[in-house]
Amino acid sequence: MNHILTGKQLADRKLMEELFKTAQEFENRDKKGEVLDVFKGKIVATLFFEPSTRTRLSFEAAVLKLGGQVLSTENAAGASTAIKGETIEDIARIVSGYADMIVIRHPEAGSVERAASTSQSPVINAGDGTHEHPTQALLDVYTMQKELGGLDGKTVVFIGDHRNGRTLHSMLPMLVLFKVKIILVSPEELRLPDEYKEMLTGANVPFEEVVELESVLGEADVLYVARIMKERFSSPEEYERLKDSYLTNKDTLSKMKSTAVVMAALPRVGEIDPNIDSDPRAAYFREAKNGLYVRMALLVYALQK
Ligand code: NCD
Repeated sequence: MNHILTGKQLADRKLMEELFKTAQEFENRDKKGEVLDVFKGKIVATLFFEPSTRTRLSFEAAVLKLGGQVLSTENAAGASTAIKGETIEDIARIVSGYADMIVIRHPEAGSVERAASTSQSPVINAGDGTHEHPTQALLDVYTMQKELGGLDGKTVVFIGDHRNGRTLHSMLPMLVLFKVKIILVSPEELRLPDEYKEMLTGANVPFEEVVELESVLGEADVLYVARIMKERFSSPEEYERLKDSYLTNKDTLSKMKSTAVVMAALPRVGEIDPNIDSDPRAAYFREAKNGLYVRMALLVYALQK
C-alpha cells in the first residue's frame, strides 16, 4: 500500500518531477474550471489530532476537486474516541473500513506510522509531532522550483525553530538531491538535530549553522521563515525568551537579492511583518495555494499504487 509517511520516501527526482507535472496540470485544469472525477466514489477521511488550517482544508479541497468525498474530524483529539483512550492503531483500522484513504495529523512522533501499520487504506502523514510533515515539504520544494525556475546552484536559508520544525526535517532529504547550499539560522537552543546534519554531511551538501541572519541575507535565493513552535516547548520561559529571535521585514528584504523569494509554511505569529506581503518576493501565499495542487497530485499517487 502506498502510504505517504516520510520525506525520504518522496525524495526521488523522477517521482518528484512526475508529481510536480501532475500538480501543474491540475492547476491548469482547475483554472479552466474543469470538474474532475478521478476520485469519484472515493471517500477520504481527515483525522486531525492537532490544529490545522491550510493542511486540512487544502487536503479536503483537493479531494472535492478530484470528485471525491470527505469524512472530517477537525478536532479528533477531543471529538473522537481518542479521548476515551482508544489507540491510533484501532482508530485507523476502523476508519480505514469507511474510507479509501486517511490523512492524519497527530502530536506524537511516529504515531502516523503506527496508524499505517493497521490501516487497510493508504495513510498520509499531515504532520506527526516534531518528526515529519512530508506533504508540506514537497509543496515547498515545488514552490521553490516554480518561483526560481530550478534549484541547482541555489542557496536556501532556513530561519527559525529547526529543533522542532517537522517540515524542514521532511524537506532535507528532498533538497539534498539538488546542488544546493543550505544555511540554517536559529538560536543555539533550536538547532537542527544531529541525525539531519549527518544526512547533509553524508550527501556532501554544503551547509552552515549561524545565529545571526544579517550576514547571510545577501546569499539567499530562498529565505524560508519558520515560526518558533510554541506548542513543542516544555518550558514557557524558554519559549518567551526565544519567540522574538527574528523578524523578516522591509529592512530584511532590502538586503536580499531582487530575484530571491521569502517562503513560509505559515501560520505566522509575528516573525513576518505583513508590510512585506505586497513585495513580489513574498511567495508564502502562492506557496499555500500550490499546496492544493500538490496535494491533489499526492492523493492520486497514493490511490494508484
Ligand atoms: C506547519 C506545521 O503545522 O507543521 N504548518 C503547516 O502545515 N502549514 C508549520 C507550523 O505550524 O508552523
